[in-house]
Formats: sequence, structure tokens, C-alpha cells
Amino acid sequence: MKNSALRKGIILAGGNGSRLAPLTLGVSKQLLPVFDKPMIHYPLSILMLSDIKEILIILKEKDINAYKNLLGDGKQFGIDIKYSIQKNPDGLAQSFLVGENFIDNSPVALILGDNLYHGSGLVKQLKRANKQTDKNTIFAYRVNDPERYGIVEFNKKGEPSKIQEKPTYSKSSYAITGLYFFDNSVVEKAKKVKPSKRGELEITSILNMYLKEKNLDIEILGRGIAWFDTGTFDALHQAGSYIRTIENRQGLKIGCPEEISWRKGWISDKEFLEIGYKLGNDDYLEYVKRLIEDKTQDII
Ligand code: TTP
Repeated sequence: MKNSALRKGIILAGGNGSRLAPLTLGVSKQLLPVFDKPMIHYPLSILMLSDIKEILIILKEKDINAYKNLLGDGKQFGIDIKYSIQKNPDGLAQSFLVGENFIDNSPVALILGDNLYHGSGLVKQLKRANKQTDKNTIFAYRVNDPERYGIVEFNKKGEPSKIQEKPTYSKSSYAITGLYFFDNSVVEKAKKVKPSKRGELEITSILNMYLKEKNLDIEILGRGIAWFDTGTFDALHQAGSYIRTIENRQGLKIGCPEEISWRKGWISDKEFLEIGYKLGNDDYLEYVKRLIEDKTQDII
């Protein structure tokens, strides 16, 4: 079987969002605002910054029109977006079963639709993970409350030695964040995963298969990087404040897919400007015009 080198991307945007009820009774969690953008723009931007252009969004059937109204087929961002339905939120590992046809023979990256990443050196780490198509990379982040997350422990050589889902006690403070770069064997691995005690197909089971094969790289996200999982009221508010503080100080947007696309040369000045006019938001249009005028100043 030929292994196509171009990695595809999946954004997981189903789930119940029960911790954000009643907000999520009428609206999908990943469409809620994080300051000036819908939440999904942030994980979408991360895939684009990794140089991934073929993207599948996995969602609930009732939300499909809302996502299509927002993102369409991705052409406006110079990318290709497809949609698949996850009937029940049966776990993160199900992404690779729902996405099997989309993934085909390619390596794949999965990002959770409520995860937000930002900070110094991040793009380099993303591009490195994307380029290593025969390797598998996950991103770990030091947290104060490891018992809430999947945790990775390291041996004395700094290699990953153990992965556990929400342990009651852990020697490690390194949480596994919601971004995973896998080779094409992930589909076959996902088929072998059995439901856990809480009835979910856990991504931890897949990670343990790679760990057993000694084929799992961990990129540590250092203290110059912010990682939010925006699934609670506090985290949603904190993430919004964080984005607002940096954007207002710098006059540059974080997680703006059309800007990323334009900087990468995937859309032209004219196409970028058209998006500015189409949105009908005067401040946003001014932003687009300013970027096009100052083109020489900024680099991603
Ligand atoms: P969670 O935050 O674990 O679950 P949730 O979004 O349903 O929220 P809550 O716990 O408050 O009910 O999910 C992380 C991300 O993955 C989120 O973007 C939703 C998505 N997800 C799915 O799309 N399908 C799934 O089967 C699961 C478990 C999560």
C-alpha cells in the first residue's frame, strides 16, 4: 500500500459539551466565542500552521448546517474542508474510524475542537511534527492538576515510559494535550481499541500501542506556550481574556484562518480583501487592509 506523504487533519467537534450547559443546549460548544472568533478557528489555525490543507471536521448531525455556514468547503481559506457525523460521542479514538475513508493511505493529525494553543516556538514544533510522516508525535504540557488529564511519565533517559488516563496519583505533571500526529497505522490501531470502564474508545489505548512499539515522540510545550482546553466556564473565560489581551496589545489576531492562509500564499491579497468585505465588520475590514498594506512587516 502506498503511503501518501501529505498529512491530513481531523478536528473533533462533536461531544456533548455538558460542562458548558446551558450554553451548549442550542449551540455546538466549538462554535462558542473565544473573544472575537468561534472556538473552532483556533484548532483549525493550528492545523493550517502545521501546513495541513485537507481537513475533516467530525461533528454531530444537528450542527452540520451551522458549521457549513461558518466554514463551507474551506476554499476561501485556500484549503479543503469535509464533514463527517459522529452519531454518539463514544471517545476520541473513534475519530479514526469515522474518518477512515478520509484518511485513506495518509498520515493524519487529530486536534480536539476545544483546544487552543499559542506561543513562542510553537509553529516550529508543529511543522517538525508534520514533516516526520513516519513518526508519531504528541504534545505534553506541565499542569497544576494532572489528575484531570491523560498523563505521560518519563524514564531517566527522558523517554516516555507510561501513559495513563486521569490517574488518581501520578509521578508526572505532564498532561497530554489534544493534538496528535500519527502515521497511517492509527486506523488499524483504532479498530483494536475496546471501550474503557467509562464506555469510551480512549485515545490513551492508541498511545499505549505506539508506546509499546517504541514509536511515540513527545514534544514538550514549554512555559512560553499557552494551552487551554476551553471546556469549562472558567477556561472559556480565561482563554477569551488571554486572546483579548494579546490581540489588543499587538494589533494582530491569533487564530485567524484567512490571515494564516494569506501569509502562506494560499490566497491572494484580493481574496483576503474579499473576505474582509464579505464579513461586513468595519473593524475587521480595516485590519485586513492594514495587513495588506504593511505586508513587509510581519512574519508568522
Ligand atoms: P470533552 O471535553 O472530553 O467532551 P465534551 O465536549 O462532550 O464536553 P463535556 O465533557 O463537558 O460533556 O471532549 C473534548 C473534545 O473532543 C471536544 O471538542 C468534543 C470532542 N469530542 C467528540 O467530538 N467526540 C467524542 O466522542 C468525544 C469524547 C469528544
